[in-house]
Amino acid sequence: MKVLFIGDVFGKPGRQAVSELLPFVISKYGPFEAIIANGENSAGGKGITRSIVKSFWELGINVVTTGNHVWAQREVFDFIDSELGLLRPANYPTNTPGQGWVVINTASEMKLCVINIAGQVFLDNFSNPFHCLDEILKQVSVQTEHIILDFHAEATSEKIAMGWYADGRVSAVIGTHTHIQTADDRILHQGTAYVTDVGMTGPYDSVIGTAKKEVLYRFTTMLPVRYKVAQEEVILCGVVLDLDDKTGNAISIERVQIPL
Ligand SMILES: [Fe+2]
Ligand SMILES: [Fe+2]
Repeated sequence: MKVLFIGDVFGKPGRQAVSELLPFVISKYGPFEAIIANGENSAGGKGITRSIVKSFWELGINVVTTGNHVWAQREVFDFIDSELGLLRPANYPTNTPGQGWVVINTASEMKLCVINIAGQVFLDNFSNPFHCLDEILKQVSVQTEHIILDFHAEATSEKIAMGWYADGRVSAVIGTHTHIQTADDRILHQGTAYVTDVGMTGPYDSVIGTAKKEVLYRFTTMLPVRYKVAQEEVILCGVVLDLDDKTGNAISIERVQIPL
């Protein structure tokens, strides 16, 4: 089972990269049983809107994960409960709108579970991500062996710790949130594919997607400033996963960086 995971789609340049490059990625690396994209930055760099979610479905993306920026566009509250393929971190408090994991039927009717969990280190006050995974796996493991975790976290240590914690229990742990693709993609000892960060799909002539001038002003003056989405050096970042159809174990993980 081949699955494509597209890293944090940042603003309009990121959305444009997905729509223009996806056919090429599919022809070169696919066909894919499923396509997953992190969309937490897809609306102007923060949050996601109804029309963007719809455009992702139209492009053939099956599941959209998010992270700490999921609530940035207020309209998300109007549709997150009804868009079952749109995930927010599962370790928000009980009764938070939306859902943290989903089981989908893939292109050839296999079952694939996608889980979205956020880290605690240098992030919002999420509940323990490791315990959260345990609770979800109790429900998911009886349904499918094919499980992909988007671990949306800041600290490399917390991410690799999650990789080892989940090793052999999920097919892949894909790190998101830091927007810079790391070169540590590998298969862990018990068969779980792992990468600390899949990277951003968006403008790299930037500070993790944001135009440099305003970010430098903020860092040098400590004064508030309105950030802008950068526009140049747009790249699609992702990983291509190949999972064993029977066991769900990873056969391979390959990083991709494709310029627009
Ligand atoms: Fe992000
Ligand atoms: Fe994030």
